[in-house]
Amino acid sequence: MTLIDRLPRLMLADRADASRQAAELLAHELITPHPVLGLATGSSVEAVYRELAAMVADSEPLRTGVDRAEAFALDEYLGLPDDDPHTYRATLRRQLAEPIGLPEERLHVPDPDSTVEPAGYDRAIAAAGGIGVQLLGIGANGHIGFNEPGAAFDSRTRVVDLTDRTRRDNARFFARPELVPTRAVTQGIGTILGARRLVVLAFGAAKADALAAALTGPIDPAVPASALRLHPDVVVLADRPAASAVLDLFEAGLDRL
Ligand code: F6R
Repeated sequence: MTLIDRLPRLMLADRADASRQAAELLAHELITPHPVLGLATGSSVEAVYRELAAMVADSEPLRTGVDRAEAFALDEYLGLPDDDPHTYRATLRRQLAEPIGLPEERLHVPDPDSTVEPAGYDRAIAAAGGIGVQLLGIGANGHIGFNEPGAAFDSRTRVVDLTDRTRRDNARFFARPELVPTRAVTQGIGTILGARRLVVLAFGAAKADALAAALTGPIDPAVPASALRLHPDVVVLADRPAASAVLDLFEAGLDRL
């Protein structure tokens, strides 16, 4: 297999179109006999959940799909009070589970109590039949989930420290930067690669270098998102600013490819 065979499909679309296409891919999963969704949190995926909720409201087959669906969050902060609206459980409940009518017991989130064995989450995913479609954003430092640079490609769900960069990037969701947790529990890169299809969203120039490193640089733990190229079914939906560094490399006739 040459490197070019391993390039994920990269689709250029503006945020609205990309969000609609990602929602359609989740909707396809919902009409399978045993739908299992993998859910990211953050700016990149918010509109996807709005689109999916609108599709579900309009479609009886999708509503029936939700009745048999399981959903697994990608990650969760450690150290926030249970009733904190910033937890990823609260966020996913608000942005997706409540709008589509997915009950709490089928919205699975890694346990934010660090004394609970995190690998149990991987077993729960396996028991549900594995994730069909995993939605992902990408960090400006190349992280996927909260797998920060250096995370092993075969890592499983576990507790991790967040880098200063990630805490700074996520400070916009909190009233004060120091309120951003320092630790999280995240699906590992190995866990993520176990999903049958990965759908990655990247918007804005702040993601350009990370996307270019992930798609065209060495496949190496220094860039966690480069592990995406080890997966046979990845769709990357990016707007032009996020894809700009990849496009520049292609235009320059990158001989590495
Ligand atoms: C979220 C997650 C993160 C984000 C990434 C991009 O569950 O695991 O990897 O997907 O940090 O965040 P946004 O979309 O806010 O730019």
